[in-house]
Amino acid sequence: MQQVEQFLTNHTDQFIEQVCDFLRIPTISADSAYKPEMQRGAQFLYAQLSQAGLDARIIETAGHPIVFGSWQKAKDAPTVLVYGHYDVQPPDPLGEWITPPFEPDLRDGYIYARGATDDKGQMFTHIKSVEAWLKTQGRLPVNVKFVIEGEEEIGSDNLDRFLHHNRKLVQCEIAVISDSSQYGPGIPAITYGLRGILACEVIVTGPKQDLHSGVFGGSVVNPANELARMIASLHDDQGHVQIPGFYDDVIPLSHAERRRFADLPFDEATFLAELGVDAAKGEAGYTTIERRWARPTCDVNGLTSGYSGEGPKTIVPSSATAKISCRLVPNQDHKKLTAALRQFLESMCTAGLKLHFKSFHGCPAIVFDPNSRHMTAARAAIEHAFGIAPVMILEGGSIPVVSTFRDVLAVDTLLLGWGQATDNLHSPNERFNITDFHRGTQASAHLWQQLAVQRW
Ligand code: BES
Ligand code: MN
Ligand code: MN
Repeated sequence: MQQVEQFLTNHTDQFIEQVCDFLRIPTISADSAYKPEMQRGAQFLYAQLSQAGLDARIIETAGHPIVFGSWQKAKDAPTVLVYGHYDVQPPDPLGEWITPPFEPDLRDGYIYARGATDDKGQMFTHIKSVEAWLKTQGRLPVNVKFVIEGEEEIGSDNLDRFLHHNRKLVQCEIAVISDSSQYGPGIPAITYGLRGILACEVIVTGPKQDLHSGVFGGSVVNPANELARMIASLHDDQGHVQIPGFYDDVIPLSHAERRRFADLPFDEATFLAELGVDAAKGEAGYTTIERRWARPTCDVNGLTSGYSGEGPKTIVPSSATAKISCRLVPNQDHKKLTAALRQFLESMCTAGLKLHFKSFHGCPAIVFDPNSRHMTAARAAIEHAFGIAPVMILEGGSIPVVSTFRDVLAVDTLLLGWGQATDNLHSPNERFNITDFHRGTQASAHLWQQLAVQRW
């Protein structure tokens, strides 16, 4: 173990250079113009996995490729499946980046670039820990399989299909993902559950083209006005979501869970200051942590209509579009609620207006037993590397593959986030703390050891 740790320490600079090379590839899955870059991203990973000592290959899909790697020579030891994603969110708004999103910059102890924490930098820690074991010991304490996809940020549809059709190839005892956050600076965490999601788009159309609002305004329906009215109806003034049936399947928070959340250190003033807002707001009757981790929500993610250039333009726009997503908690059905949302919006669509609803993707929420054996293994590994035991948390983001692993492979996932909620994921100036990168790599190296000594 000492040699493994030493290897990691000796190569810190080299690892950062390699992460930067990875971050220079603009692997934006949502934008078809970047398809060749997705191929480059997959090639880069293939080379990384191969040189680390894994048997690697690129698996083409109907969308972006999946990179698979494995090392399976640990007799009578469990198999761990490491998942990560090499696709990133679009970098917009570009003007708000201090340094360009795909030119990684090292400053103040961070790597700044799109994908630094979500998920290239975090995923890299596991590749490097495996490399350290194989290059110093010629073996790993467990069998490992890597599945790294390029479509997480767009819903993981092709990965889903791949997992359903290749159960044997990906068979494992436990999955590991580093694509979430620590609880706070210096407070590492194990995430024992994530919210689910449903995402969609609604387009309302009125007149066949934009009209002069003086000549025609007031005589025909205005799609922007009407869409705003629909959106306003999604919540009451207590912050409760008004989609019929939305809360029907929600399991109320237990006292124990509320207690657990309340016991975590949380300073609301700091939280608000970091986000640049002066008050917390959300569903009445719940704390900020409960609202973020364990209550369902409905949010508009994008809203477009009419003229948005400089200066005024007096028109009745011919259409208006909203992108909407709901975060879900355990036992809520994303398909059922997508239908309910659609019906709710359609019920508010007045004469003179047409409504087009498009469903993007969805996945259920998930919560694991925080006291399982592999959680114990992860706790020990993290304590070793970070010098402090992790706290057990939930998080509000979603990783669709986690429920697929449960349903298709019947395994739990260890969600070991090395990032911070303040790393600007999906935002301008995304970053990843370099010390956390190295700690994550050490924790990963210890995890293989800890998982091996568990009895399965
Ligand atoms: N890594 C995030 C999810 C995440 C972030 C989990 C922070 C926990 C803490 C992931 O890449 C992501 O952004 N997921 C999407 C869902 C997907 C279906 C588009 C999300 O949560 O919006
Ligand atoms: Mn991610
Ligand atoms: Mn993401």
